[in-house]
Amino acid sequence: MSAGILGMGKYVPDRVLTNFDLEKMMDTNDEWIRTRTGIEERRIADKETNSSDMAYAAAKKAIDHSGLTVSDIDMIIVATITPDRPFPSVACMIQNRLGAEKIPAMDISAACSGFIYGIVTAKQFIDTKAYQHILVVGVEKLSKITDWEDRSTAVLFGDGASAAVVGPVSEGKGILSFELGADGSGGQYLYQEGNYIKMNGREVFKFAVRKMGECAVDVVKKAGLKKKDIDFLIPHQANIRIMEASRERLEIPEDKMIKTVQKYGNTSSSSIPLALTDALEEGKIKDGDLVVLVGFGGGLTWGGLTMRWGK
Ligand code: UT7
Repeated sequence: MSAGILGMGKYVPDRVLTNFDLEKMMDTNDEWIRTRTGIEERRIADKETNSSDMAYAAAKKAIDHSGLTVSDIDMIIVATITPDRPFPSVACMIQNRLGAEKIPAMDISAACSGFIYGIVTAKQFIDTKAYQHILVVGVEKLSKITDWEDRSTAVLFGDGASAAVVGPVSEGKGILSFELGADGSGGQYLYQEGNYIKMNGREVFKFAVRKMGECAVDVVKKAGLKKKDIDFLIPHQANIRIMEASRERLEIPEDKMIKTVQKYGNTSSSSIPLALTDALEEGKIKDGDLVVLVGFGGGLTWGGLTMRWGK
């Protein structure tokens, strides 16, 4: 027995904000955004829709997709840096809305590495048999901490949620290896001050290119696998140039990297699970495929894992 993903679900707001829309709001242009980041459009939640609303919608879909019911869920972990409010946690809010009575619920904060931190945390409880089925959600309403007067960050981010049900799968399937890490000395490069995200783009870029490549290579090695065994790479969807650097490091062809940055922008802790859910919905990932997830984010944090898809 090992721990794997039993079901996935997503929610993205209907409202699409294109690069051309941004041209009308600030001194930027589609060409700059596309060539520097790969982003073409992003989803933006309306005023009334908060992180807990998106998390709840994604969670319900993930539970349905897993074939389980709410009463089978033993714990809820939500990765987010944009909770509705500092407390209660988004996890407690959706526990109540789901009607998942009395089970433990907590938020974790690891920025864009949050979903991987969440999945790896869930794995520990499942491996020790403390809990069987754990709901892990990555959700962000980044639009509420975006400074729409700062073109160097405003063009990058989007809103959305995606959820996974993690539970026991047969030997050889599920999570084969993982790595988590953090370097708090880099906190100065990406943080929230007052109401807004502040970022030193170049420093984050350098860190991301180095760390995503290293981490991806390390988790493949830890699983006793070779680069050629990888069927799909799902990197954090922040910037196509950073994603390409990790793909090249793993020496895998273009069509084996899942790419959603063009349509959702950077949705932080929601970015990796959104890409994974889309790849499943499109029928790309099949039973037995070896999937590598790798991310980096504010903290600075990073995380990666290898997973043999299937139950
Ligand atoms: O989840 C983690 C989140 N963070 C990241 O992933 C960020 C990582 N960093 C990056 O992705 C890149 O550093 C950026 C996309 C943010 C910026 O790309 P860059 O190639 O590092 O550009 P730059 O910051 O060096 O700026 C180049 C020029 C500057 O003009 P000057 O000084 O050369 O005249 C900027 O003022 O581009 C200008 N610029 C823009 N122009 C049009 C910055 N933002 C914009 C914009 N539209 N939105």
